Amino acid sequence: MISRSTIDKVYQMAIIEDVIGEFVQLKRSGNAFKGRSPFSNEKTPSFFVVPAKNLYKDFSSGKGGNVVDFLMQHEKLSYPEAIRWLAAKYNIDIEEDQSSPEQQQEKSEREQLSIVTEFANKFFQQQMHKTEEGQAIGLSYFTERGFLPETIKTFQLGYCPDKWDTMTKAALEAGYSLEYLKKAGLTRERENGTYDFFRGRVMFPIHNISGKAIAFGGRTLKAEKDIAKYFNSPESELYIKSNVLYGLHLAKNEMVKQDMCYLCEGYTDVIAMFQAGVQNVVSSSGTSLTEGQIRLIKRYTPNITILYDGDSAGIKASFRGIDMILKEGMNVRVLLFPDGDDPDSFSRKHSSSEIQDFIRSNSRDFIRFKTELLAEEAGQDPIKRAGLIRGIVESIALIPDAITRGVFAQECAQVLKMSEQTILTELNKILVTQFKKTSKEEQELPVPLLDDAPVEQPNTASLELTTLPQERDFIRLLLTYSGDRIELTFVNEDQKEETHAIGVVDFLLASLEMSQMNMRIPIYGKILEEFIELNLKEVDATRSFSQHTDPEITSLTSDLLTEKDHVSVNWGRHKIFPDTERNNLRHALQSCVYRLQIRNLEIIAADIDTQLSQPDLDEMQMDELLIQKKNNDAIRREAAKYLGTVITRNV
Ligand code: CTP
Ligand code: MN
Repeated sequence: MISRSTIDKVYQMAIIEDVIGEFVQLKRSGNAFKGRSPFSNEKTPSFFVVPAKNLYKDFSSGKGGNVVDFLMQHEKLSYPEAIRWLAAKYNIDIEEDQSSPEQQQEKSEREQLSIVTEFANKFFQQQMHKTEEGQAIGLSYFTERGFLPETIKTFQLGYCPDKWDTMTKAALEAGYSLEYLKKAGLTRERENGTYDFFRGRVMFPIHNISGKAIAFGGRTLKAEKDIAKYFNSPESELYIKSNVLYGLHLAKNEMVKQDMCYLCEGYTDVIAMFQAGVQNVVSSSGTSLTEGQIRLIKRYTPNITILYDGDSAGIKASFRGIDMILKEGMNVRVLLFPDGDDPDSFSRKHSSSEIQDFIRSNSRDFIRFKTELLAEEAGQDPIKRAGLIRGIVESIALIPDAITRGVFAQECAQVLKMSEQTILTELNKILVTQFKKTSKEEQELPVPLLDDAPVEQPNTASLELTTLPQERDFIRLLLTYSGDRIELTFVNEDQKEETHAIGVVDFLLASLEMSQMNMRIPIYGKILEEFIELNLKEVDATRSFSQHTDPEITSLTSDLLTEKDHVSVNWGRHKIFPDTERNNLRHALQSCVYRLQIRNLEIIAADIDTQLSQPDLDEMQMDELLIQKKNNDAIRREAAKYLGTVITRNV
């Protein structure tokens, strides 16, 4: 593992505009740099690098982050690879941390497993291409399935001879240990000797992200009913099923480029689609999608299309799994293949352009699809229809982004031929329940972490961090000062200072966008969303909120607008000082944004800590999390530093 001090050094030395400048032509623009997005083909530059913040933001693709994030996104490097890349650029020596004996043990366990698995992978390929049996049985099977030689090579398909222990013998002769052959699930032992687990099967190696074989699926070529069609490697230190997606190492670049991941059922579907020119395709191999796999996809794209071959019963069974994907904030589409076809069989019957057309014109948004499917089933039965609305609205309520939720509520109303208000009322019921739950927890929250006095981190695992006071204050400022402007000073291209007046609304919304934040509390999300909409229509949002049809919004709005008059002890604790606010509006706004950002980062930090405490993390994931944690700390410290000065000035 790369040592912390090396990572620190890399972050200190790396100059973000230099690094990104290697890939993007940047021009100075005020105190930032500007260029054309390397993630899209835009004509007008909307890609910014902000050296003071060590961040970049690409408004055309929505991507953004620090220098390491850039290398990961643009060069498709892993975290440790990105660190190594920067270390090489800045001539920093990489120290590797001493790991504990257990960690070393575990590492060598994984390495040993990896070595025998790689050996077997080569062996199976060599057997298929270079032996008579392999060619006659394995290779001809794949060829008949329509796999081209190039495809067979790319996926490293192979064949395990139909003898007792050909592979095991070869491995032992080459010096590999029986212990690891067994642990890797390649060799089985009986009283009378050892045998190859996969004998007589064609082999589909399963790879990790860097393209190393870590497990196998083996398909029998025998037609007997009592023989399992597929055998799969058992789980081990090396192969943790729930964190692996078949084909990901080949799909990931295209997933980023197309900003889409196609998910299908199995090995043969992935291979057939890939051969047909659809390369951003993976499968979760047998199991339903796990959270680990969703996060894996999310690293590359937030968009996922599930390719179904099943009947509607099978599809309905998968709905719960899809809710999990929605909760991660991903956009889910579904695609149904025509009767009896799966991606594999379909792609054999059609040309590559027909397949791509088919996908493009037939994939549908999941929520819309679910709505249609359930609506069809419920027919005109009013009780069934009521249940149906709840089911769908529950899915919509899971979507973290308020604006997206609104769009779906609208769509769903259209499909069901109902008034949007009915859907929104249902949705609000669920959101308000969530809101009440969170605000109750908020009341029990200990002293906030932002106070001057050092505050002990509460160590109750059950404590849910919320952004309630911070988001509330953000909305309050937005509503209270929506007609005001503040002065901001920039450094222009000639290094001269320039002062511009900018609207409070623009400032607050741009700050949210720059730090990639959203309201976490549903009611504030809703207000923000409507505010943005009204603002676009140049309607006075503040006034229209006090006459809103939703009583919760009217009462909240009036509370917020009169907050000034009764500053509670509690608000003082949160360092929110409405009295001095108008006199120093710029600082008030900036502090509010920073407070919100800090709280958000605290929540993310808590999430990182939870992930770090998972027992089955591999080294790469661990590195990645530690670096995220470090970035998170750094941004938080910067924000806290600003608040420190402002707070003293105000008091
Ligand atoms: N699969 C599996 N285990 C099984 C059956 C299927 O893991 N017992 C997965 C495999 O990844 C396979 C995919 O599901 O690629 C599709 O299943 P299926 O069509 O039954 O397998 P094929 O090998 O395509 O068989 P066939 O030629 O009969 O279509
Ligand atoms: Mn099949």
